[in-house]
Amino acid sequence: MESHGSGKIMCITGATDGIGKVAASELAKQGYTLALVGRNSEKGQRVMSEIAQDSGNENIRFHTCDLSSMADVRKLAEEIKTEYDQLNVLLNNAGAYFSEFDKTDEGFERTFALNHLAYYLLTYLLMEMLERTKSSRIVNVASDAHRGSKMSFDDLQGFDGYKGWPAYCKSKLANIMFTYELDRRISGKNITVNCLHPGFVDTNFGNNNSGSARIGLNVAKKVGAISPAKGGLTSIYLASSEEVKGVSGKYFSKCKPKKSNAASYVEADQEKLWQITESFLA
Ligand SMILES: NC(=O)c1ccc[n+]([C@@H]2O[C@H](COP(=O)([O-])OP(=O)(O)OC[C@H]3O[C@@H](n4cnc5c(N)ncnc54)[C@H](OP(=O)(O)O)[C@@H]3O)[C@@H](O)[C@H]2O)c1
Repeated sequence: MESHGSGKIMCITGATDGIGKVAASELAKQGYTLALVGRNSEKGQRVMSEIAQDSGNENIRFHTCDLSSMADVRKLAEEIKTEYDQLNVLLNNAGAYFSEFDKTDEGFERTFALNHLAYYLLTYLLMEMLERTKSSRIVNVASDAHRGSKMSFDDLQGFDGYKGWPAYCKSKLANIMFTYELDRRISGKNITVNCLHPGFVDTNFGNNNSGSARIGLNVAKKVGAISPAKGGLTSIYLASSEEVKGVSGKYFSKCKPKKSNAASYVEADQEKLWQITESFLA
């Protein structure tokens, strides 16, 4: 077992399946103490035991949290702050595509809540912990699906005509814009933040939907998707590799920095998104 994660603590959201689970398994082997986050406690306990057994690493805990609930995200952050004394890596990974419009109990559109607000809020609430940890990293799982998108500030949550796939793509653009804005805001601190495209990956992604949305994605996966093991590589790289120590504010794909779309680089829009997000969560 490689042990360069030894003594380091990492929080991984969406660690019960897909890319997050692959990353958790590998990072457990590297010796990290892991705080795994998922919404299903039974599945979480099972995955945690499986990973502990495979890796021989017993320093793994599971935290139940529905990340589309900001009240739950706040509880999770309190738990993390109480149970760990430092945080070396926060891997914001949990995300989903919702083909139909749905509002959370808190009144947010569900894609926007889970894919964007949870990344922002969890990071914000754990920032003090990340700051006091010597050299910490934030990694945000985004997607190349952002490429055709731009932020529509007049209807950020799609209340005036929701379309599932465009809403997903916009949420992934938000992950990238959040990364770039955060990078400017933490400049001079001993923290890095990067985001990534994992590839088109054969995971459980999209299976929460029914009908053509679900079928279409699964057909596409059969034809062109890479394995979860491959899909986890860039997350693992950004979370743990010495090669990216000190590298910040970049979008990665296949473990290499890559340009994201033009809209993602508009600083005024990054700041506007930040301010609106902040106002939602105040
Ligand atoms: N798959 C792709 O081709 C692809 C491409 C680009 C980007 N991505 C991004 O990669 C990330 C991971 O996706 P994946 O492909 O690994 O999908 P996945 O197999 O569906 O895994 C998603 C993970 O997030 C968890 N999750 C979902 N909703 C949650 C909630 N409300 N609260 C807490 N946890 C929740 C899931 O929990 P359960 O185990 O309970 O379902 C699971 O652990 C996402 O951000 C996605 O946008 C995926």
